[in-house]
Amino acid sequence: MSIYNNLINNLEALKLTRFKENLDSYLDMIADGKKTVLDALYEITQSELEFKNHQAITGCVKIANFPYLKEINEFDFSFQPSLDKTKIMDLMTLRFIENAENVIFCGTPGVGKTNLAVSIGIEAAKHRYCVYYMTFQELISQLKKAATENRLEARIKWFCRYKLLIIDELGYQKMDVESANLFFNLIAKRYEKQSTIITTNSPFSKWSDIFGEPVLTNALLDRLLHHCSVININGPSYRLKDQMQYMMEEN
Ligand SMILES: Nc1ncnc2c1ncn2[C@@H]1O[C@H](COP(=O)(O)OP(=O)(O)O)[C@@H](O)[C@H]1O
Ligand SMILES: [Mg+2]
Repeated sequence: MSIYNNLINNLEALKLTRFKENLDSYLDMIADGKKTVLDALYEITQSELEFKNHQAITGCVKIANFPYLKEINEFDFSFQPSLDKTKIMDLMTLRFIENAENVIFCGTPGVGKTNLAVSIGIEAAKHRYCVYYMTFQELISQLKKAATENRLEARIKWFCRYKLLIIDELGYQKMDVESANLFFNLIAKRYEKQSTIITTNSPFSKWSDIFGEPVLTNALLDRLLHHCSVININGPSYRLKDQMQYMMEEN
């Protein structure tokens, strides 16, 4: 085997995909005197690094289980004037994750709660934070299943691996005592260690009714809100935007 073939084998064994792809063109450039060996080595390793970084980002975004991929630059802030763009852009710096703070988006349907949570989540995943999106219902059913299988503690530990957990649509249904306790358990474990983003259509004054347990609800809110940005969105539904436009044109 030639040294060239051995090199190709080594690059494959080391999983240096981009390096392998670029090798020939760089060897040509060196042979033609168009690149020094040092420049070639630097550029070829730089391109491998960028490729690996890109792969890692794609992996983090995939793992996060987002319902859709919409980034913040697609969000139309002018449609939702009550929303403080500066506050959202501050969240986009991901400072809140470093400080293990929470975010709660509260508002009526269609105002962009899920979209904003997802956009912040994508940014976090791009920065290679371990992020996971799930609806409140999914979360509760997974915790319940774990409890019946006697592995609740392990499951909660599993959820605590995520630096950012996005829990979408809290408050659409009333809960039984078990669900309320399971949720409290999770939030208490994540408290001051990891960040959680929650979206809800229910103001905090109604949470007692949803959880059905006033004492537990107080303890839950105490932990959730201790280090938390609460973003209330009062405005029109983006889902009805086109319909509204249509109705205005009709009149
Ligand atoms: N201000 C906005 N700019 C662009 N798209 C928006 C905006 N608000 C909502 N949307 C879009 O409208 C739909 C409903 O928004 P969503 O975030 O799911 O609402 P909800 O508050 O009910 O979670 C989604 O497709 C979302 O991307
Ligand atoms: Mg939603």
